Amino acid sequence: MRVFVTGGAGFIGSHTLVQLMRKGADVLSYDNYCNSSPEALSRVKRLAQSDLAIVEGDICDPGALERAMGDFKPDAVIHFAGLKAVGESAEKPLTYYKNNIAGSIALLEVMNKIGCSKIVFSSSATVYDPDKPFPFTEDTPLKAASTYGRTKHFIEDIIRDWSAATPGSSAAVLRYFNPVGAHASGDIGEDPVGIPNNLLPYISRVAQGSLKELQVFGDCYDTADGTGARDYIHVEDLAGAHLAALEYIAGAKGCETFNIGTGTATTVLAMIRAFEAATEQSVPYRITGPRAGDVSTTVANPSKAEQVLGWKAEHDIEAMCRSVWNWQVRNPNGYRTPE
Ligand SMILES: NC(=O)c1ccc[n+]([C@@H]2O[C@H](COP(=O)([O-])OP(=O)(O)OC[C@H]3O[C@@H](n4cnc5c(N)ncnc54)[C@H](O)[C@@H]3O)[C@@H](O)[C@H]2O)c1
Repeated sequence: MRVFVTGGAGFIGSHTLVQLMRKGADVLSYDNYCNSSPEALSRVKRLAQSDLAIVEGDICDPGALERAMGDFKPDAVIHFAGLKAVGESAEKPLTYYKNNIAGSIALLEVMNKIGCSKIVFSSSATVYDPDKPFPFTEDTPLKAASTYGRTKHFIEDIIRDWSAATPGSSAAVLRYFNPVGAHASGDIGEDPVGIPNNLLPYISRVAQGSLKELQVFGDCYDTADGTGARDYIHVEDLAGAHLAALEYIAGAKGCETFNIGTGTATTVLAMIRAFEAATEQSVPYRITGPRAGDVSTTVANPSKAEQVLGWKAEHDIEAMCRSVWNWQVRNPNGYRTPE
């Protein structure tokens, strides 16, 4: 199978590339490295012990996309490329709408031109209405609370409409919950630029000593210990969901949506304790007031993915913590660490 992967050098893309290549797929990574490093792809090749095609390009550049796709002639596309920082999306809404939505439209147009009609799309649990009861099923009403989440909601609708209008097309929209973890080798992982936005990369920087303490935003939520609870999913499990989705769209028609999570919520304090136990490092923290826009609990009902895709998460919180720490210790400066 020939798979065109946008955003292949990113956190989730790189882990998915390794699994695809190990299964023998022919893969092309198309990335402009606005939030990643080509070094990730060198490590992907080494881990998979095989080669992959690499094109540096922007999804908002239809000419470059058409040249890359036209030459490669993919059977399917996995579309990871996008900007993903919720806070930044409020400050730069037009940048987010242009990059994520206009880029996705350009991608679908080029797919039409070259005759590729199968796509797996990276959506997000941020599309759900946070005030609805959890666990969220795929039918829980949508109401994104951020500009970033709205870009995902719009792209989902665009892909659904495109699929309805494109005979023979097939699309899988994957709504990821909270991706964390790193490859077991410690060679690839999440490499945020600047101060991390996400909990586990932040915790591991505190444990490493490069950040002083973790601020825990609020302990008055309706959860076991009062801190916010999220459905954390190991990136290796998430990568596996893309392989299952590719297999599914190869034989399906239309557009289907799947929650990709574990079905279990972990609070911030439980995550700190799990990290300390798994790594024998201490994580100083301070409880502060709740952050505007945060919600108590987000958790998936992942049963549709299990029934239809035959996919289920396997890694537990301890494995997530251990793999993040292994990546952090081996790469204190991320991909800028000399090997
Ligand atoms: N990590 C999460 O918490 C999370 C949760 C839900 C959904 N998602 C979605 O999953 C996808 C992958 O996320 P990730 O965590 O791997 O992010 P990432 O930033 O590590 O990877 C995204 C990749 O896309 C590339 N990219 C961005 N805009 C591009 C453009 N215009 N042209 C070409 N390449 C471009 C970046 O350089 C990067 O390599 C994103 O669409 C993200 O919104 C991520």
